[in-house]
Amino acid sequence: MTLTPVITEHWDSPDLYTIDGYRRFGGYGALASALKQDPDAIIQTVKDSGLRGRGGAGFPTGMKWGFVPQNDGKPHYLVVNADESEPGACKDIPIMMANPHALVEGVIIASYAIRASHAFIYIRGEVPNALRKVANAVEQARAAGFIGSNILGTDFSLDIVVHSGAGAYICGEETALLDSLEGYRGQPRLKPPFPAVAGLYASPTVINNVETIANIPYIIERGAAWLRQFGTEKSPGFKVFAVSGHVNRPGIYEAPLGITMRELLDYAGGMRDGRKLKFWIPGGSSVPMLIEEHLDLPLTYEDMAGAGTMLGTGTPMMFDETVSVVKAVTRWLEFYKHESCGKCTPCREGTYWITGMLERFEHGHGQEADVDKIVHVCTQIAGRSFCALGDAAATPYPAALKYFRDEFLAATHTSADEQFDPVASYLFAGAAR
Ligand SMILES: Cc1cc2nc3c(=O)[nH]c(=O)nc-3n(C[C@H](O)[C@H](O)[C@H](O)COP(=O)(O)O)c2cc1C
Ligand code: SF4
Repeated sequence: MTLTPVITEHWDSPDLYTIDGYRRFGGYGALASALKQDPDAIIQTVKDSGLRGRGGAGFPTGMKWGFVPQNDGKPHYLVVNADESEPGACKDIPIMMANPHALVEGVIIASYAIRASHAFIYIRGEVPNALRKVANAVEQARAAGFIGSNILGTDFSLDIVVHSGAGAYICGEETALLDSLEGYRGQPRLKPPFPAVAGLYASPTVINNVETIANIPYIIERGAAWLRQFGTEKSPGFKVFAVSGHVNRPGIYEAPLGITMRELLDYAGGMRDGRKLKFWIPGGSSVPMLIEEHLDLPLTYEDMAGAGTMLGTGTPMMFDETVSVVKAVTRWLEFYKHESCGKCTPCREGTYWITGMLERFEHGHGQEADVDKIVHVCTQIAGRSFCALGDAAATPYPAALKYFRDEFLAATHTSADEQFDPVASYLFAGAAR
């Protein structure tokens, strides 16, 4: 399958990030055409295109926009989730750096469609360069008359606020993001009500990922049928795949959904130093790992689900035979333990217990009984936590055990005086936390 650069098509043009550079390739033409249409027609086009959200869950974008109640007399908001912080995910930040106007044009069109007069772009705080690029793009669009009052002579007015987060992974969870944006500590909200009904300032709010919104100008300009010629019935379109890890050419490869990992790996120059692939993860550390036998599966939402994993953010991480799966899983669990917001017990305590047990495996003195005890703790987190961070934390270990049980067993040592007792450990370490 060949690559299909769309969002990335002109990334080698050095001034694409400026409004002049973007307009040279037809930028803001989609906005002019959108503003001549009824907002509902825009929503219908996005529905017809079958575009699915690129933030990880793959929720149909047009359907999400359609949930916003109309004529309710309340303000509506569009919020762009640009908090990209998942280990392995690295596609929204490059989009914002290289092609920020595609995002800004998408924000204006999406706001018009859902009848929002205020939009927010919530950017991960640790990436000031992306923040500056997007903030400059917004100012240039404002100066050109694409943001502000009576845009292009219509009665549509919009303001866009670029907001910097403070560096918490949980603020990527959409309702925690809203709390953070409102000035509170970023912790997830109970759903329902869903943000489309009661989101930012208790008003109807659409929250979309950067890549989702950056697709919008191209869909409006080229049509729903154009997008549907790529991908599959259930996964239409193309994807900005970010391939990282032990490959010769890590980077961004934009390709139709349905390309296989083997094909992407070829584009990425194969495994580094001629080494063998050991395992890979299709889209961020929150989705279960796969192995070599899965390389020929199409990278679609449905095929990844069929293999017991998820497409997630579509940012494959490739690991060669030199990697200790015990160490890799331990690092991810340390991340989830650190990023757990502490609101609910299964995630707050479970990530702490699992990390404690895994760290013992890492140092070669895991307990054989813990191999299955960790699975048990994971089953007490998954589905019982307040938000999907808990589910994500319960994902890496069971998947690793499925393929690499021997490696965990090899890291055990059964000396009775080193038995890990999670309760005693908790009580003992409590004061230190
Ligand atoms: C812990 C956690 C972190 C998340 N981080 C992000 C993120 O950085 N960016 C993102 O778009 N979605 C993230 N999500 C998913 C969002 O909650 C939400 O589903 C997404 O922004 C919706 O956009 P989409 O429909 O365009 O995919 C995260 C979810 C969780 C549970
Ligand atoms: S699952 Fe974890 S991150 Fe989510 S609310 Fe509970 S403690 Fe916070």
